[in-house]
Amino acid sequence: MSSSNAPPASASPSETQQVGVIRGNGIGPEITEAAQYVLEATGLPIEWIPIPIADEAFERHEHPLPPESVASLREVRVTLKAPLIVNKLQGRITCRQPDGSEMSYPSLNNAIRRELALFVNPRPIRGFPGISEKYEALDLVTMREITEDIYFGREHQIGDLAAEAVKRITREASLRVARYAFDYAAANGRRRVTCLHKANVLNMTDGLFLRCFHEVAAEFPDVEADDLMIDAACFHIIRSPERFDVVVCPNQYGDIFSDLAAGLAGSLGLAPGANIGPACAVFEASHGAAPDIAGKGLANPAALILSGALMLRHLGHADRADAVEEAVRSALAEPTLRTRDLGGPAGTMECARGIAERVRQPGGG
Ligand code: NAI
Repeated sequence: MSSSNAPPASASPSETQQVGVIRGNGIGPEITEAAQYVLEATGLPIEWIPIPIADEAFERHEHPLPPESVASLREVRVTLKAPLIVNKLQGRITCRQPDGSEMSYPSLNNAIRRELALFVNPRPIRGFPGISEKYEALDLVTMREITEDIYFGREHQIGDLAAEAVKRITREASLRVARYAFDYAAANGRRRVTCLHKANVLNMTDGLFLRCFHEVAAEFPDVEADDLMIDAACFHIIRSPERFDVVVCPNQYGDIFSDLAAGLAGSLGLAPGANIGPACAVFEASHGAAPDIAGKGLANPAALILSGALMLRHLGHADRADAVEEAVRSALAEPTLRTRDLGGPAGTMECARGIAERVRQPGGG
């Protein structure tokens, strides 16, 4: 992720950008307000299109992800999404398809990703000076495959005493995510792509993912390619975080490894993310809805704000994306603007206002 001190360009009314917004629940509404405030400070005219999902959708349509909301997400194409609470043990959801058939998904988040054909979840994680301590050198992007693996969601009971789940890995999805990771590395001057797997045990599934990775790697002779077992990768990131650059992995390992990296950077509240597909993209933080601090104005808005910066870059506004990323780093260098998860005294909007001020006056702060 490049950065510059260039001031945000002034926008003409014709540039008005339509963006979907899912306000989420838990800390969702408060961090959404903060992120919208900062993104509007870039000067880009944004028309926010609210898309009801979960409780709000249930009240109107008696379904947490009704076809109307899916249609809106497809139409607007680019959406900023706050986290959604997914009930443990009963998150499963069924969505009606245009042809009248039904698809069943293991969770609401999984359903959004799969209904929109989003296939990769890039999660960039960088260390922050004064916050990340010995992990300041951390600068990696996890490319998590998000259509299959064990989160494919096909589970069944075996009597009352056992249950099984299907771990689905296909050649098509594995090649696609590997190609996305190498394309990204080549386009962004990244030196290495590392594949995380457990192919020593899961010879067929993770073995297929790994073989596809090396097949794609051969097309990119200028980018170094290597692989690590997921358990060894967890050890190495603790011991030598600078070893990792771009990382590509099946769904579940990516989910866990990216939270681990966020923890090393200092907080889940610092880790942005995106979900990218051929037609649509949804930008969301790596963290969840944090019900333990919801409604108190304590949540760190940085991860959703940084997800918004990824969204601006995706929309072709690289200068504004750089300005937001620089502003977050500059604001968080100031201990009084850090939220409680970072050991600071600031509330969600106080932190957001400090960031927005720096977006408007880059370098001034
Ligand atoms: P979580 O990420 O919501 O919270 C884990 C810990 O990190 C909590 O102590 C929380 O207070 C803290 N935390 C998270 N985000 C923070 C922020 N921005 N600022 C300050 N502290 C923050 O994970 P948890 O507790 O496992 O899940 C809570 C709910 O969120 C569950 O219903 C889960 O299913 C859902 N979830 C939703 C996601 C999404 O919508 N993409 C992703 C992950 C979880």
